Amino acid sequence: MIRNYYGNITLSIIKPDAIKNGYTLPILIMIFKAGFNIKSIKTMKISKRLAIKFYNEHKNKYFFNNLIDFITSGPILSMILNKKNAVEDFRKLIGNTNPVVAKKGTIRNLYATSLKMNAIHGSDSNDSAIKESLFLFSDSSVLL
Ligand code: RTP
Ligand code: MG
Repeated sequence: MIRNYYGNITLSIIKPDAIKNGYTLPILIMIFKAGFNIKSIKTMKISKRLAIKFYNEHKNKYFFNNLIDFITSGPILSMILNKKNAVEDFRKLIGNTNPVVAKKGTIRNLYATSLKMNAIHGSDSNDSAIKESLFLFSDSSVLL
């Protein structure tokens, strides 16, 4: 059950820009080298309806429509990643939302296109990690 992993999982999405630019494999290697174990993984094209639900916290922001158009613009790769302290460690690995600000060597510093097209998503809390995992995967699709 996904909830059994509370505190030790994060939900990641390799976003359409990184997939189109051919960075899927280098990003997966960085995730592996940082000690994350893939619990579930799938490629999908997210529907507008699900995208709006997923990014609900941003619904009143000026960039919301742009964000929804972008995340639904092409295939994404969703993953549930397992590691002790997963949420915090993964946010460190991906770097700041804005690739210009992201520290050297982080995934967004290396592979993001812009603030909007910033290559990868990582959950921002343990609660979000569970919620987002349940949005994108059913409990039964989690690998043991
Ligand atoms: P994410 O949720 O995708 O992992 O990104 P984050 O936590 O680092 O950043 P967040 O504040 O949650 O923003 C979600 C996504 O919205 C786009 N964004 N555009 N000013 C802008 O144009 C702007 N600000 C944010 C980015 O794609 C960001 O990842
Ligand atoms: Mg966020």
